[in-house]
Amino acid sequence: MSSIVSGEAGMRRTGGSASAAPIPLGRKPAGGAFQEASGGVSASKKTACIRTFGCQMNVHDSDRMRRMIRDAGYAEVHRYEEADLVVLNTCYVRENAVDRVKGHLGELNRLKREGRVKKVALAGCIGAAGEATELERRYGIDLVLGTHNTYELAEFVGLPGMEETFTPELPGTEGEHAAFVTIMTGCNYVCSYCIVPAVRGRMVCRPMENVVEEVERLVSSGTRYVTLLGQTVDAWREDGRRFCDLLERVAEAAPRVWFTTSHPSNMEDRTLRLIGEKATIVRRLHLPVQSGSDRMLKAMHRGYKSDRYRRKIEVFREAVPDGTLSTDIIVGHPGETEEDHEETLRLVADCAFDAAYVFKFSPRRGTEAASLPGAVPEKVAQRRFMEVLRAVESNALHNNRRKIGSVQEIYVRHGHTGEGKAIGETWSGHAVHVPTGGAEPGRYVTARIEGAGPHVLYAGEPSGPPR
Ligand code: 5AD
Ligand code: SF4
Repeated sequence: MSSIVSGEAGMRRTGGSASAAPIPLGRKPAGGAFQEASGGVSASKKTACIRTFGCQMNVHDSDRMRRMIRDAGYAEVHRYEEADLVVLNTCYVRENAVDRVKGHLGELNRLKREGRVKKVALAGCIGAAGEATELERRYGIDLVLGTHNTYELAEFVGLPGMEETFTPELPGTEGEHAAFVTIMTGCNYVCSYCIVPAVRGRMVCRPMENVVEEVERLVSSGTRYVTLLGQTVDAWREDGRRFCDLLERVAEAAPRVWFTTSHPSNMEDRTLRLIGEKATIVRRLHLPVQSGSDRMLKAMHRGYKSDRYRRKIEVFREAVPDGTLSTDIIVGHPGETEEDHEETLRLVADCAFDAAYVFKFSPRRGTEAASLPGAVPEKVAQRRFMEVLRAVESNALHNNRRKIGSVQEIYVRHGHTGEGKAIGETWSGHAVHVPTGGAEPGRYVTARIEGAGPHVLYAGEPSGPPR
């Protein structure tokens, strides 16, 4: 693995989605000056280490930074001690994410003083936050990059400066079996708890032609799975065209497509139907609900009521009967009462989620919720967190068990489990462990589901060779 996607304490994912399985990161670009350094690095070669914290947007930004360091002649290493340059690509969404990065910065500061690391760059969402100046001083950071000026890393590592209007113009990874394609940056919502609008700015949509061209280029260079990325992808629009139109074009250009993340207020019924109609779209919807209580949804400025969310889910279930559904839920937002929490549990039961990312509210400086009265005591938040988690897990286990006995076409995503099985994904977006006998990522195998846990399905020996 060439970088690490860090999970966070206080956030737990539950259910059978494949998205939270480790993302394929150990990409070795074909050719070029970049070398995978294993064991020793030649003495003359400059070395760099990139660590990624947080969401898929950050994973994608790290890919692009990796390209820059490769072009500048750096070899990638995995240990700080071996790196001339360390880039931390960071997340600011919850306080515990920041605490973890501070731990790494402290360690890097020490290694710098000992002369073992030369330069440290702080990139991503912490880099874009006001707190970055203080961190820069305290930890002796050499370069701070926000989310809009990632391209400045190019100049820092000695490449000619790049001009760009907005980040997605930077090329994505080519020649890999799976790639992320950013279709929009920023967010026009102002959810009470969320720091994203402050660090990523307002929504900028990437032109359709530009997206489709990138997808076509990726597919012709071997990419078999494209994930469209953005904070609210379903809010994408351009001259009367909407996300559904873009998704349809991409689903015609790529053999396998998924998208994340969406906002219930933007999710159109025709998009939900398209998921059921187009064979190339992974039949999994990630639609963050945040709370089941209308009072909380209002306080969060989410712009919908729980019944509207339920109706969307009904449309999805009808249009995509074998589809999977995942969500994000925050417990312990200021002012959340026991009744509000019960409403969330009711919604979890009604929607029968296959997976959920459950978060305890974390106050972020600069957001409205950080100064709202009615803080929920930690013990109460923890209990609610566990209750939501258990409810989702029992739904997920129930749903997954019903898949036992079915025969599924499985996309081999990456890696191997401890028992030598590959991690794959069904067309419903379920994570599956499958004995592939060494099938390469990007290939498909067909196998019978023989077991199920709340997070993953277990397949038997595939029938026939991979395709
Ligand atoms: N506290 C807890 N969870 C949060 N999220 C965003 N901001 C916060 C916060 N301050 C969660 C939301 C969002 C997901 C990416 O992170 O559920 O959908
Ligand atoms: Fe944050 Fe809300 Fe925008 Fe999502 S929709 S990124 S939670 S402000």
